[in-house]
Amino acid sequence: MATVIAIDGPAGAGKSTIAKLVAKELNAIYIDTGAMYRAMALYLLRNHIDIEDEKALTECVASADISIRFVDGEQQVWLNGENVNGLIRTEEVSSMASVSSAKGVVRVKLVDLQRKLAEDHDVVMDGRDIGTHVLPNAKPKIFLTASSKVRAKRRYDELTARGEVCDLDTIEKDIIERDERDKNREISPLRQAEDAILVDTSDMTIDQVKEKIISLI
Ligand code: DC
Repeated sequence: MATVIAIDGPAGAGKSTIAKLVAKELNAIYIDTGAMYRAMALYLLRNHIDIEDEKALTECVASADISIRFVDGEQQVWLNGENVNGLIRTEEVSSMASVSSAKGVVRVKLVDLQRKLAEDHDVVMDGRDIGTHVLPNAKPKIFLTASSKVRAKRRYDELTARGEVCDLDTIEKDIIERDERDKNREISPLRQAEDAILVDTSDMTIDQVKEKIISLI
């Protein structure tokens, strides 16, 4: 039977770290759907699209060819023939992705790609709407969360380890704002699917979370 596991939750809950480990354990591929929304956001920025201009947005989205490939088991996202994996983690792209991912034309296109990937492979897919919308038959569905304080501290540690100067309170404020946008958008808002299992990682180590999820499978 095909492996289709959905891991949803807010930013910084540890989804990608955990999904990667679980995928490895199960010999499945890990699909980071956020990277697709980020690649689309990069494309919209590059084309200076006013995302409230529906016509311009629709045309631009139609001309974006987003695909993913795997190099040594790592997902790489491609945009119109260019590997943009190294360009999608900036603040500018994060902000645009948070706004553009609320747009129907963007979601329809990327959900279609995500579903096709799950038809062809055993997958562990992470995002915001995987259990509620993209892969409703996924089993198990995990809703991974952590307090905004813990998520902000994780992000802060990650940035300072890279030598970046940042402020913990600003990061937490930003996380709360993005959560609000993800939870309150009209199309596919972030929410726990009825049949999803809630895992709060605030006081758990990475290994404990991985073991918990493997035990649920
Ligand atoms: O998980 P991430 O931070 O890389 O996601 C980038 C943005 O895309 C974020 O604002 C949430 C959005 N997103 C979404 O709306 N649906 C998904 N399935 C994945 C991400």
